Amino acid sequence: MNVFRITGGRRIFGRARLDSAKNAVLPILAASMLTEQPVTIEGFPELSDTRNMLKILTTLGCKYELTGDVVTIDAGIASKWEMPDALSKAIRSSIFMLGPIIGRFRKAVVTYPGGCEIGLRPIDLHIKGLKALGAKIREQHGMIYCDGSNLRGATVHLDFPSVGATENLMMAAATAPGTTVIHNPAREPEIVDLARFMSAMGAKIRGAGSGSITIEGVKRLNGTRFRPMPDRIVAGTLLTAAAMTGGEIELENAVLSDMGAVVDKLQRAGCAFGCSDGIMSMRAPEKLKAIEVSTQPFPGFPTDMQAQFMAMSCVADGVGVIVENVFENRFSHACELRRMGADIIINDRIAVIRGGVLTGARIAARDLRAGAALVLAGLAADGVTEVEGANIIDRGYVKLEKILSDLGAAVERI
Ligand code: EPZ
Repeated sequence: MNVFRITGGRRIFGRARLDSAKNAVLPILAASMLTEQPVTIEGFPELSDTRNMLKILTTLGCKYELTGDVVTIDAGIASKWEMPDALSKAIRSSIFMLGPIIGRFRKAVVTYPGGCEIGLRPIDLHIKGLKALGAKIREQHGMIYCDGSNLRGATVHLDFPSVGATENLMMAAATAPGTTVIHNPAREPEIVDLARFMSAMGAKIRGAGSGSITIEGVKRLNGTRFRPMPDRIVAGTLLTAAAMTGGEIELENAVLSDMGAVVDKLQRAGCAFGCSDGIMSMRAPEKLKAIEVSTQPFPGFPTDMQAQFMAMSCVADGVGVIVENVFENRFSHACELRRMGADIIINDRIAVIRGGVLTGARIAARDLRAGAALVLAGLAADGVTEVEGANIIDRGYVKLEKILSDLGAAVERI
């Protein structure tokens, strides 16, 4: 049951409602460690990454109760500051447990998260920023030992607007005495959502989403109830599915301001957008036009949509160009798309794609967004496509086969 089987040639047609964003929920779950009072998160998305994060919280001594899509986390009895090795490796994003553990216990021991399929994923910016806040950090035998007893507010300049580093620093600074200013932070909507959540807990944060974030340390944070933002990458993935199949789609809770770059590129490819009563709608053209995409930190075109747009370029009219500026190894989907007949030339971080016809094949997902891109390619291909690695796709999409089937596609898990 780890393969998606797709029969191509069906139009995506209908309306979908987006789950909460994986990349907002993960740091919000981590931030629940910052208070001794219960935190309730509504719209919890059932993903392997979010489930693993709950396991990590449990091993740190937290208790949680999940009823439907509402999870209540009680970190009041949490007593451990050492991250479990196996679980830390299970999901890379566990690295942003570092900030909340230091913020809560003033010490932390975590495993070096290591690289993954899309790149080395260094954490030098996390370490440099925490040291600027007064943390003493020793890196030894693949472990990171942190002494945050002298944690205090400071000014931090990030060399690159790293999402994870920004999140770690916001969470470590929330209870550090004094004022912290983070210059050149990530501006992604998930950062703004984390700031909203932490402010609801009583944190004093301003400027999230701008070029500088200021945090006034407070003595303690309180419990709260919060609904994270909808998933803009799932939204972009579904729009791209409709674009590639000549379809029409409505997204009930998509937030246009979170997706400006993606919507702009889909419009340049010929898609027509509408919005009424807060519902985003899109209609695909008869034939997609090839486009150029260059991934950038927000508000630029998101790297998490790059693979999906490569799949779309494979069935567009003309020659598309994709430049991946954020991760050094994020073209694993290209070789799999070639097995379907795609005409793609890769040179370092640049891909040139000559649009044509895709034919079904047995292919494999190597990372989360590459997997989603291969499913989209199957939707548009002639014949049957089987995508191995459904479990990898499950990390970021809740029952993708059901969402797409409900929108008219022929997708089953076998
Ligand atoms: C977050 O990863 C997301 N993950 C990623 O989504 C997303 O692709 C990425 O941000 C960029 O938007 C979560 O939020 C859980 P970064 P993160 O730190 O925080 C370099 C998905 O598919 N860098 O902004 O790890 C790094 O190597 C995932 O949902 C350093 O050099 O991303 C990369 O080239 C994939 N030193 C670039 O910055 C550091 O200390 C962006 O990384 C940290 C990062």
